[in-house]
Amino acid sequence: MPVTCVIGAQWGDEGKGKIIDLLSREADVVVRFQGGGNAGHTVRVGSEEFVLHLVPSGILHPGCVNVIGNGVVVDPAVLVAEIEGLRKRSVRVGENLKLSDRAHVTFPYHVRLDQLSERARGGAKIGTTGRGIGPTYADKALRTGIRVGDLYHGDSFASRLRANVAEKNVLITHLGGEPLEPEAILRDTGGHAERLKPYVTDTVRYLDEAIRAGKRILLEGAQGSLLDIDFGTYPFVTSSNSNACGVASGSGVAFRRIDELIGVVKAYSTRVGSGPLPTEETGAIGDRIREKGREYGATTGRPRRCGWFDAVAVRHSISVGGMTTLAITLLDVLSGFDEIQVCVAYEIDGESTTWLPTSVPLLERCRPVYRTLRGWHENLRGIKRFEDLPASAAAYVLLLEELLETPIRIVSVGPERDEVIIRSRK
Ligand code: GDP
Ligand code: IMO
Ligand code: MG
Repeated sequence: MPVTCVIGAQWGDEGKGKIIDLLSREADVVVRFQGGGNAGHTVRVGSEEFVLHLVPSGILHPGCVNVIGNGVVVDPAVLVAEIEGLRKRSVRVGENLKLSDRAHVTFPYHVRLDQLSERARGGAKIGTTGRGIGPTYADKALRTGIRVGDLYHGDSFASRLRANVAEKNVLITHLGGEPLEPEAILRDTGGHAERLKPYVTDTVRYLDEAIRAGKRILLEGAQGSLLDIDFGTYPFVTSSNSNACGVASGSGVAFRRIDELIGVVKAYSTRVGSGPLPTEETGAIGDRIREKGREYGATTGRPRRCGWFDAVAVRHSISVGGMTTLAITLLDVLSGFDEIQVCVAYEIDGESTTWLPTSVPLLERCRPVYRTLRGWHENLRGIKRFEDLPASAAAYVLLLEELLETPIRIVSVGPERDEVIIRSRK
Protein backbone atom coordinates (compact mmCIF):
# COMPACT_ATOMS: atom_id res chain seq x y z
CA MET A 1 0.00 0.00 0.00
CA PRO A 2 2.85 2.55 0.45
CA VAL A 3 0.83 5.60 -0.68
CA THR A 4 -2.84 4.91 -1.35
CA CYS A 5 -5.57 7.39 -2.00
CA VAL A 6 -9.31 6.83 -1.47
CA ILE A 7 -11.71 9.03 -3.43
CA GLY A 8 -15.49 9.12 -3.59
CA ALA A 9 -16.49 8.60 -7.22
CA GLN A 10 -20.10 9.82 -6.99
CA TRP A 11 -21.78 12.67 -5.08
CA GLY A 12 -20.30 11.95 -1.66
CA ASP A 13 -21.37 9.58 1.13
CA GLU A 14 -20.13 6.55 -0.80
CA GLY A 15 -18.91 4.86 2.39
CA LYS A 16 -15.38 6.31 2.30
CA GLY A 17 -15.22 6.31 6.11
CA LYS A 18 -15.84 2.58 6.25
CA ILE A 19 -13.25 1.85 3.55
CA ILE A 20 -10.65 4.13 5.17
CA ASP A 21 -11.23 2.44 8.52
CA LEU A 22 -10.78 -0.94 6.85
CA LEU A 23 -7.53 0.08 5.14
CA SER A 24 -6.27 1.91 8.23
CA ARG A 25 -5.45 -1.42 9.80
CA GLU A 26 -2.43 -1.50 7.53
CA ALA A 27 -1.66 2.21 7.43
CA ASP A 28 0.75 4.31 9.47
CA VAL A 29 -0.70 7.69 8.50
CA VAL A 30 -4.17 8.79 7.33
CA VAL A 31 -4.47 12.21 5.68
CA ARG A 32 -7.42 14.45 4.88
CA PHE A 33 -6.51 16.87 2.06
CA GLN A 34 -9.65 18.88 1.18
CA GLY A 35 -13.11 19.77 2.39
CA GLY A 36 -13.85 20.51 6.00
CA GLY A 37 -16.65 19.96 8.47
CA ASN A 38 -19.05 19.45 5.54
CA ALA A 39 -17.78 15.84 5.48
CA GLY A 40 -19.48 13.18 7.57
CA HIS A 41 -17.61 9.89 7.46
CA THR A 42 -19.23 7.04 9.34
CA VAL A 43 -17.27 4.23 10.93
CA ARG A 44 -19.11 1.43 12.69
CA VAL A 45 -17.24 -0.57 15.31
CA GLY A 46 -19.51 -3.21 16.80
CA SER A 47 -22.55 -1.42 18.18
CA GLU A 48 -20.75 1.93 18.20
CA GLU A 49 -21.06 4.44 15.39
CA PHE A 50 -18.60 7.28 14.93
CA VAL A 51 -19.21 10.14 12.49
CA LEU A 52 -16.02 12.02 11.68
CA HIS A 53 -16.09 15.51 10.19
CA LEU A 54 -12.58 16.96 10.36
CA VAL A 55 -10.59 14.26 12.11
CA PRO A 56 -9.39 11.59 9.64
CA SER A 57 -11.10 8.20 9.80
CA GLY A 58 -7.91 6.44 10.91
CA ILE A 59 -8.35 7.82 14.44
CA LEU A 60 -9.99 4.63 15.69
CA HIS A 61 -6.80 2.66 15.00
CA PRO A 62 -4.37 3.36 17.82
CA GLY A 63 -1.34 2.86 15.60
CA CYS A 64 -2.31 5.49 13.02
CA VAL A 65 -1.21 9.09 12.88
CA ASN A 66 -3.98 11.31 11.50
CA VAL A 67 -3.15 14.40 9.48
CA ILE A 68 -5.45 17.30 8.65
CA GLY A 69 -3.67 18.61 5.58
CA ASN A 70 -3.14 22.10 4.21
CA GLY A 71 -6.04 21.83 1.74
CA VAL A 72 -8.63 21.30 4.48
CA VAL A 73 -10.64 24.25 5.80
CA VAL A 74 -10.84 24.07 9.58
CA ASP A 75 -13.42 25.57 11.88
CA PRO A 76 -11.55 25.57 15.22
CA ALA A 77 -14.77 25.32 17.25
CA VAL A 78 -15.85 22.26 15.27
CA LEU A 79 -12.46 20.60 15.58
CA VAL A 80 -12.20 21.21 19.32
CA ALA A 81 -15.72 19.79 19.83
CA GLU A 82 -14.91 16.77 17.68
CA ILE A 83 -11.73 16.02 19.62
CA GLU A 84 -13.61 16.33 22.91
CA GLY A 85 -16.41 14.10 21.65
CA LEU A 86 -13.91 11.42 20.65
CA ARG A 87 -12.09 11.61 23.98
CA LYS A 88 -15.37 11.24 25.86
CA ARG A 89 -15.83 7.99 23.98
CA SER A 90 -12.35 6.84 25.03
CA VAL A 91 -10.72 7.43 21.66
CA ARG A 92 -7.15 8.59 22.10
CA VAL A 93 -6.41 11.97 20.50
CA GLY A 94 -2.96 13.33 21.21
CA GLU A 95 0.26 12.90 19.31
CA ASN A 96 -1.70 10.83 16.80
CA LEU A 97 -3.31 14.00 15.39
CA LYS A 98 -1.52 16.63 13.30
CA LEU A 99 -3.01 19.84 11.96
CA SER A 100 -1.41 21.71 9.09
CA ASP A 101 -0.23 25.22 9.85
CA ARG A 102 -1.18 26.04 6.24
CA ALA A 103 -4.85 24.96 6.55
CA HIS A 104 -7.29 27.85 6.20
CA VAL A 105 -9.50 28.75 9.13
CA THR A 106 -13.28 28.97 8.96
CA PHE A 107 -14.54 31.83 11.14
CA PRO A 108 -18.12 32.60 12.24
CA TYR A 109 -18.44 35.13 9.41
CA HIS A 110 -17.84 32.35 6.88
CA VAL A 111 -20.58 30.25 8.41
CA ARG A 112 -22.98 33.17 8.54
CA LEU A 113 -22.25 34.18 4.94
CA ASP A 114 -22.71 30.61 3.73
CA GLN A 115 -26.15 30.49 5.30
CA LEU A 116 -27.18 33.99 4.22
CA SER A 117 -26.03 33.45 0.63
CA GLU A 118 -28.01 30.26 0.45
CA ARG A 119 -31.09 32.07 1.72
CA ALA A 120 -30.56 34.80 -0.87
CA ARG A 121 -30.34 32.23 -3.66
CA GLY A 122 -33.89 31.10 -2.89
CA GLY A 123 -35.02 28.37 -5.27
CA ALA A 124 -31.57 28.32 -6.90
CA LYS A 125 -29.80 27.38 -3.67
CA ILE A 126 -26.95 24.89 -3.78
CA GLY A 127 -28.11 23.12 -0.65
CA THR A 128 -24.75 23.54 1.10
CA THR A 129 -24.10 22.04 4.50
CA GLY A 130 -24.02 25.57 5.93
CA ARG A 131 -20.59 25.00 7.46
CA GLY A 132 -18.90 28.02 5.86
CA ILE A 133 -16.96 25.95 3.35
CA GLY A 134 -17.49 28.07 0.21
CA PRO A 135 -16.73 31.43 1.87
CA THR A 136 -13.55 30.04 3.48
CA TYR A 137 -12.18 28.76 0.16
CA ALA A 138 -13.25 32.03 -1.48
CA ASP A 139 -11.11 34.00 0.99
CA LYS A 140 -8.20 31.64 0.37
CA ALA A 141 -8.42 32.44 -3.34
CA LEU A 142 -8.84 36.15 -2.59
CA ARG A 143 -5.77 36.01 -0.34
CA THR A 144 -7.65 37.44 2.59
CA GLY A 145 -7.82 34.05 4.29
CA ILE A 146 -6.24 33.38 7.68
CA ARG A 147 -4.30 30.15 8.11
CA VAL A 148 -3.95 28.00 11.20
CA GLY A 149 -0.33 29.10 11.68
CA ASP A 150 -1.42 32.76 11.65
CA LEU A 151 -3.51 32.24 14.79
CA TYR A 152 -0.30 32.19 16.82
CA HIS A 153 0.91 35.61 15.66
CA GLY A 154 -1.13 37.72 18.09
CA ASP A 155 -1.09 41.29 16.79
CA SER A 156 -0.98 40.67 13.10
CA PHE A 157 -3.72 38.03 13.46
CA ALA A 158 -5.93 40.43 15.42
CA SER A 159 -5.57 43.22 12.91
CA ARG A 160 -6.23 40.95 9.92
CA LEU A 161 -9.26 39.47 11.64
CA ARG A 162 -10.68 42.88 12.53
CA ALA A 163 -10.26 44.02 8.92
CA ASN A 164 -11.97 40.88 7.63
CA VAL A 165 -14.88 41.20 10.04
CA ALA A 166 -15.39 44.86 9.08
CA GLU A 167 -15.50 43.91 5.41
CA LYS A 168 -17.74 40.86 5.91
CA ASN A 169 -20.16 42.78 8.10
CA VAL A 170 -21.01 45.00 5.13
CA LEU A 171 -22.03 41.95 3.15
CA ILE A 172 -23.72 40.26 6.10
CA THR A 173 -25.83 43.34 6.74
CA HIS A 174 -26.62 43.66 3.04
CA LEU A 175 -27.91 40.08 3.07
CA GLY A 176 -30.13 40.83 6.05
CA GLY A 177 -27.95 39.27 8.74
CA GLU A 178 -26.73 40.51 12.11
CA PRO A 179 -23.19 41.92 12.01
CA LEU A 180 -20.54 40.07 14.00
CA GLU A 181 -18.47 41.34 16.89
CA PRO A 182 -14.74 41.03 16.10
CA GLU A 183 -13.58 41.02 19.73
CA ALA A 184 -15.84 38.07 20.56
CA ILE A 185 -14.40 36.14 17.60
CA LEU A 186 -10.87 36.99 18.72
CA ARG A 187 -11.57 35.79 22.23
CA ASP A 188 -13.23 32.51 21.21
CA THR A 189 -10.66 31.76 18.52
CA GLY A 190 -7.86 32.47 20.98
CA GLY A 191 -9.25 29.82 23.31
CA HIS A 192 -9.62 27.25 20.55
CA ALA A 193 -6.19 28.04 19.12
CA GLU A 194 -4.60 27.39 22.49
CA ARG A 195 -6.24 23.97 22.68
CA LEU A 196 -5.26 23.10 19.12
CA LYS A 197 -1.66 24.26 19.49
CA PRO A 198 -0.21 20.85 20.38
CA TYR A 199 -1.39 19.43 17.04
CA VAL A 200 -0.23 22.24 14.76
CA THR A 201 2.76 21.47 12.60
CA ASP A 202 4.19 21.67 9.11
CA THR A 203 2.38 18.58 7.83
CA VAL A 204 4.00 18.88 4.41
CA ARG A 205 7.37 18.24 5.99
CA TYR A 206 5.92 15.53 8.24
CA LEU A 207 4.48 13.69 5.22
CA ASP A 208 7.64 14.07 3.19
CA GLU A 209 9.66 12.50 5.99
CA ALA A 210 7.06 9.77 6.54
CA ILE A 211 7.12 8.79 2.87
CA ARG A 212 10.93 8.80 2.81
CA ALA A 213 10.89 6.54 5.87
CA GLY A 214 8.68 4.07 3.98
CA LYS A 215 5.59 4.67 6.09
CA ARG A 216 2.27 3.51 4.66
CA ILE A 217 0.15 6.55 3.86
CA LEU A 218 -3.59 6.61 3.23
CA LEU A 219 -5.09 9.77 1.74
CA GLU A 220 -8.77 10.22 2.61
CA GLY A 221 -10.91 12.12 0.13
CA ALA A 222 -14.03 13.92 1.29
CA GLN A 223 -17.17 14.63 -0.75
CA GLY A 224 -17.12 12.95 -4.15
CA SER A 225 -15.79 13.43 -7.67
CA LEU A 226 -19.07 14.79 -9.02
CA LEU A 227 -18.98 17.53 -6.36
CA ASP A 228 -15.48 18.56 -7.52
CA ILE A 229 -15.31 22.28 -8.19
CA ASP A 230 -13.76 21.78 -11.64
CA PHE A 231 -15.10 18.43 -12.81
CA GLY A 232 -18.40 18.14 -10.94
CA THR A 233 -21.84 19.47 -11.80
CA TYR A 234 -20.89 23.14 -11.33
CA PRO A 235 -22.25 25.27 -9.68
CA PHE A 236 -23.90 22.48 -7.64
CA VAL A 237 -20.57 21.37 -6.21
CA THR A 238 -18.42 21.92 -3.16
CA SER A 239 -15.61 24.49 -3.22
CA SER A 240 -12.60 22.17 -3.41
CA ASN A 241 -11.16 19.58 -5.76
CA SER A 242 -12.78 16.46 -4.35
CA ASN A 243 -11.55 14.24 -7.15
CA ALA A 244 -7.98 12.97 -7.07
CA CYS A 245 -6.67 16.20 -8.58
CA GLY A 246 -6.96 17.73 -5.10
CA VAL A 247 -4.51 15.34 -3.47
CA ALA A 248 -1.23 17.03 -4.33
CA SER A 249 -2.33 20.60 -3.69
CA GLY A 250 -4.17 19.64 -0.51
CA SER A 251 -1.49 17.52 1.13
CA GLY A 252 1.84 18.36 -0.45
CA VAL A 253 2.19 14.70 -1.46
CA ALA A 254 3.25 14.87 -5.10
CA PHE A 255 0.95 12.99 -7.42
CA ARG A 256 3.71 10.74 -8.71
CA ARG A 257 4.29 9.43 -5.19
CA ILE A 258 0.83 7.85 -5.12
CA ASP A 259 0.88 4.12 -5.81
CA GLU A 260 -2.79 3.25 -5.74
CA LEU A 261 -5.97 5.23 -6.19
CA ILE A 262 -9.14 3.59 -4.96
CA GLY A 263 -12.48 4.97 -6.08
CA VAL A 264 -15.40 4.28 -3.75
CA VAL A 265 -18.84 3.84 -5.29
CA LYS A 266 -22.05 2.86 -3.68
CA ALA A 267 -24.16 0.29 -5.50
CA TYR A 268 -26.69 2.99 -6.47
CA SER A 269 -26.65 6.81 -6.60
CA THR A 270 -27.37 9.36 -3.90
CA ARG A 271 -27.04 13.08 -3.67
CA VAL A 272 -27.79 15.52 -0.87
CA GLY A 273 -28.46 19.12 -1.81
CA SER A 274 -29.52 20.52 -5.18
CA GLY A 275 -28.21 19.81 -8.67
CA PRO A 276 -28.53 17.22 -11.39
CA LEU A 277 -28.94 13.55 -10.50
CA PRO A 278 -29.89 11.96 -13.83
CA THR A 279 -30.95 8.59 -12.40
CA GLU A 280 -32.96 10.00 -9.49
CA GLU A 281 -36.02 7.96 -8.50
CA THR A 282 -38.49 10.24 -6.77
CA GLY A 283 -41.14 7.57 -6.15
CA ALA A 284 -41.34 4.23 -4.36
CA ILE A 285 -37.98 2.93 -5.62
CA GLY A 286 -36.11 5.95 -4.27
CA ASP A 287 -37.96 5.72 -0.95
CA ARG A 288 -37.11 2.06 -0.63
CA ILE A 289 -33.40 2.65 -1.24
CA ARG A 290 -33.41 5.56 1.22
CA GLU A 291 -35.05 3.57 4.01
CA LYS A 292 -33.04 0.39 3.51
CA GLY A 293 -29.75 2.26 3.07
CA ARG A 294 -30.52 4.72 5.88
CA GLU A 295 -29.78 7.46 3.38
CA TYR A 296 -29.92 10.49 5.64
CA GLY A 297 -27.00 12.95 5.79
CA ALA A 298 -24.33 12.13 8.37
CA THR A 299 -23.61 15.86 8.83
CA THR A 300 -26.97 17.58 8.36
CA GLY A 301 -29.51 14.73 8.72
CA ARG A 302 -31.14 15.72 5.42
CA PRO A 303 -32.78 12.90 3.41
CA ARG A 304 -30.55 11.96 0.49
CA ARG A 305 -31.97 11.82 -3.03
CA CYS A 306 -31.64 8.26 -4.35
CA GLY A 307 -31.58 6.49 -7.70
CA TRP A 308 -29.98 3.75 -9.77
CA PHE A 309 -26.26 3.43 -10.45
CA ASP A 310 -25.06 5.88 -13.07
CA ALA A 311 -22.16 4.38 -15.01
CA VAL A 312 -21.86 7.45 -17.26
CA ALA A 313 -21.21 9.75 -14.30
CA VAL A 314 -18.80 7.32 -12.59
CA ARG A 315 -16.87 6.73 -15.82
CA HIS A 316 -16.35 10.48 -15.94
CA SER A 317 -15.05 10.48 -12.35
CA ILE A 318 -12.62 7.69 -13.17
CA SER A 319 -11.44 9.29 -16.38
CA VAL A 320 -10.59 12.52 -14.56
CA GLY A 321 -9.34 10.91 -11.35
CA GLY A 322 -7.38 7.95 -12.70
CA MET A 323 -8.67 5.45 -10.13
CA THR A 324 -6.75 2.18 -10.40
CA THR A 325 -9.26 0.04 -8.50
CA LEU A 326 -12.72 0.41 -7.02
CA ALA A 327 -14.55 -0.45 -3.82
CA ILE A 328 -18.30 -0.94 -4.08
CA THR A 329 -20.34 -0.34 -0.93
CA LEU A 330 -23.92 -0.85 0.25
CA LEU A 331 -24.50 -3.75 -2.16
CA ASP A 332 -26.66 -5.34 0.56
CA VAL A 333 -29.14 -2.46 0.24
CA LEU A 334 -30.17 -3.66 -3.24
CA SER A 335 -31.39 -7.05 -1.97
CA GLY A 336 -35.12 -7.49 -2.53
CA PHE A 337 -35.57 -5.87 -5.93
CA ASP A 338 -36.88 -8.16 -8.70
CA GLU A 339 -35.04 -6.03 -11.23
CA ILE A 340 -32.12 -3.66 -10.97
CA GLN A 341 -31.28 -0.92 -13.45
CA VAL A 342 -27.91 0.48 -14.42
CA CYS A 343 -27.61 3.67 -16.45
CA VAL A 344 -25.27 2.92 -19.37
CA ALA A 345 -25.83 6.05 -21.48
CA TYR A 346 -27.81 9.27 -21.57
CA GLU A 347 -30.25 10.38 -24.19
CA ILE A 348 -30.23 14.12 -24.78
CA ASP A 349 -32.70 15.57 -27.24
CA GLY A 350 -32.91 12.24 -29.08
CA GLU A 351 -29.14 11.64 -29.21
CA SER A 352 -27.34 9.05 -27.15
CA THR A 353 -24.06 9.75 -25.33
CA THR A 354 -21.83 7.99 -22.82
CA TRP A 355 -19.93 11.20 -21.94
CA LEU A 356 -21.10 13.39 -19.04
CA PRO A 357 -22.16 16.79 -20.42
CA THR A 358 -20.59 19.88 -18.85
CA SER A 359 -23.51 22.19 -18.29
CA VAL A 360 -26.33 21.86 -15.81
CA PRO A 361 -29.11 22.70 -18.32
CA LEU A 362 -27.87 19.85 -20.54
CA LEU A 363 -27.50 17.49 -17.58
CA GLU A 364 -31.05 18.23 -16.60
CA ARG A 365 -32.25 17.18 -20.04
CA CYS A 366 -30.42 13.84 -19.83
CA ARG A 367 -32.67 10.81 -19.80
CA PRO A 368 -30.93 7.70 -18.50
CA VAL A 369 -30.69 4.72 -20.83
CA TYR A 370 -30.95 1.67 -18.61
CA ARG A 371 -29.73 -1.87 -18.80
CA THR A 372 -31.99 -4.09 -16.70
CA LEU A 373 -30.60 -6.94 -14.64
CA ARG A 374 -32.24 -9.59 -12.60
CA GLY A 375 -32.22 -8.72 -8.90
CA TRP A 376 -31.73 -10.97 -5.88
CA HIS A 377 -33.62 -11.47 -2.65
CA GLU A 378 -31.01 -13.04 -0.39
CA ASN A 379 -29.51 -11.06 2.47
CA LEU A 380 -25.85 -10.37 1.62
CA ARG A 381 -24.71 -9.41 5.10
CA GLY A 382 -22.23 -11.85 6.52
CA ILE A 383 -21.01 -13.06 3.12
CA LYS A 384 -17.21 -13.14 3.06
CA ARG A 385 -16.33 -14.61 -0.33
CA PHE A 386 -17.25 -13.32 -3.76
CA GLU A 387 -18.16 -16.88 -4.85
CA ASP A 388 -20.80 -16.99 -2.11
CA LEU A 389 -22.76 -14.01 -3.46
CA PRO A 390 -26.05 -14.85 -5.17
CA ALA A 391 -25.40 -15.21 -8.92
CA SER A 392 -27.35 -12.03 -9.76
CA ALA A 393 -25.44 -9.95 -7.20
CA ALA A 394 -22.11 -11.21 -8.56
CA ALA A 395 -23.31 -10.51 -12.11
CA TYR A 396 -24.18 -6.96 -11.06
CA VAL A 397 -20.69 -6.32 -9.70
CA LEU A 398 -19.10 -7.85 -12.80
CA LEU A 399 -21.25 -5.69 -15.09
CA LEU A 400 -20.18 -2.54 -13.23
CA GLU A 401 -16.56 -3.63 -13.47
CA GLU A 402 -16.97 -4.06 -17.23
CA LEU A 403 -18.80 -0.76 -17.74
CA LEU A 404 -16.28 1.15 -15.62
CA GLU A 405 -13.25 -0.69 -17.06
CA THR A 406 -11.73 -0.78 -13.59
CA PRO A 407 -11.31 -3.77 -11.26
CA ILE A 408 -13.58 -3.86 -8.22
CA ARG A 409 -11.43 -5.26 -5.42
CA ILE A 410 -13.56 -4.51 -2.36
CA VAL A 411 -17.25 -5.31 -2.01
CA SER A 412 -18.94 -4.00 1.15
CA VAL A 413 -22.09 -5.80 2.24
CA GLY A 414 -22.90 -4.10 5.53
CA PRO A 415 -21.89 -1.12 7.67
CA GLU A 416 -19.74 -3.09 10.12
CA ARG A 417 -15.99 -3.25 9.90
CA ASP A 418 -15.82 -6.91 8.91
CA GLU A 419 -18.80 -6.94 6.53
CA VAL A 420 -16.63 -6.93 3.48
CA ILE A 421 -15.45 -9.14 0.64
CA ILE A 422 -11.87 -8.64 -0.53
CA ARG A 423 -11.33 -10.01 -4.02
CA SER A 424 -7.89 -11.29 -4.80
CA ARG A 425 -5.96 -9.98 -7.77
CA LYS A 426 -6.41 -12.15 -10.82
P1 GDP B 1 -18.83 8.73 3.59
O1 GDP B 1 -19.15 10.17 3.75
O2 GDP B 1 -18.40 8.39 2.20
O3 GDP B 1 -17.87 8.20 4.61
O4 GDP B 1 -20.21 7.94 3.80
P2 GDP B 1 -21.29 8.22 4.97
O5 GDP B 1 -20.73 7.76 6.25
O6 GDP B 1 -21.78 9.61 4.90
O7 GDP B 1 -22.49 7.32 4.49
C1 GDP B 1 -22.34 5.94 4.30
C2 GDP B 1 -23.37 5.21 5.18
O8 GDP B 1 -23.44 3.86 4.77
C3 GDP B 1 -22.96 5.15 6.64
O9 GDP B 1 -24.13 5.15 7.42
C4 GDP B 1 -22.26 3.79 6.76
O10 GDP B 1 -22.32 3.25 8.07
C5 GDP B 1 -23.06 2.98 5.82
N1 GDP B 1 -22.36 1.88 5.12
C6 GDP B 1 -21.10 1.86 4.64
N2 GDP B 1 -20.89 0.72 3.94
C7 GDP B 1 -22.05 0.01 4.01
C8 GDP B 1 -22.49 -1.22 3.44
O11 GDP B 1 -21.78 -1.91 2.74
N3 GDP B 1 -23.78 -1.59 3.71
C9 GDP B 1 -24.62 -0.83 4.47
N4 GDP B 1 -25.85 -1.30 4.67
N5 GDP B 1 -24.24 0.34 5.00
C10 GDP B 1 -22.98 0.77 4.76
P1 IMO C 1 -18.77 13.36 2.60
O1 IMO C 1 -17.29 13.58 2.78
C1 IMO C 1 -22.36 14.54 0.44
C2 IMO C 1 -22.68 18.72 -0.74
C3 IMO C 1 -23.74 19.57 -0.08
C4 IMO C 1 -24.06 20.52 -1.22
C5 IMO C 1 -22.70 20.75 -1.86
C6 IMO C 1 -21.98 22.00 -1.39
O2 IMO C 1 -19.46 12.93 3.83
O3 IMO C 1 -19.03 12.50 1.41
P2 IMO C 1 -20.75 22.65 0.88
O4 IMO C 1 -21.23 22.67 2.30
O5 IMO C 1 -19.59 21.74 0.66
O6 IMO C 1 -20.51 24.01 0.31
O7 IMO C 1 -22.00 22.05 0.05
O8 IMO C 1 -21.92 19.62 -1.52
N1 IMO C 1 -21.77 18.04 0.20
C7 IMO C 1 -21.78 16.73 0.44
N2 IMO C 1 -22.62 15.78 0.02
N3 IMO C 1 -21.32 14.21 1.21
C8 IMO C 1 -20.45 15.14 1.64
O9 IMO C 1 -19.32 14.85 2.31
C9 IMO C 1 -20.69 16.48 1.29
N4 IMO C 1 -20.06 17.65 1.54
C10 IMO C 1 -20.71 18.59 0.86
O10 IMO C 1 -24.85 18.81 0.30
O11 IMO C 1 -24.88 19.88 -2.16
MG1 MG D 1 -20.73 11.39 4.38
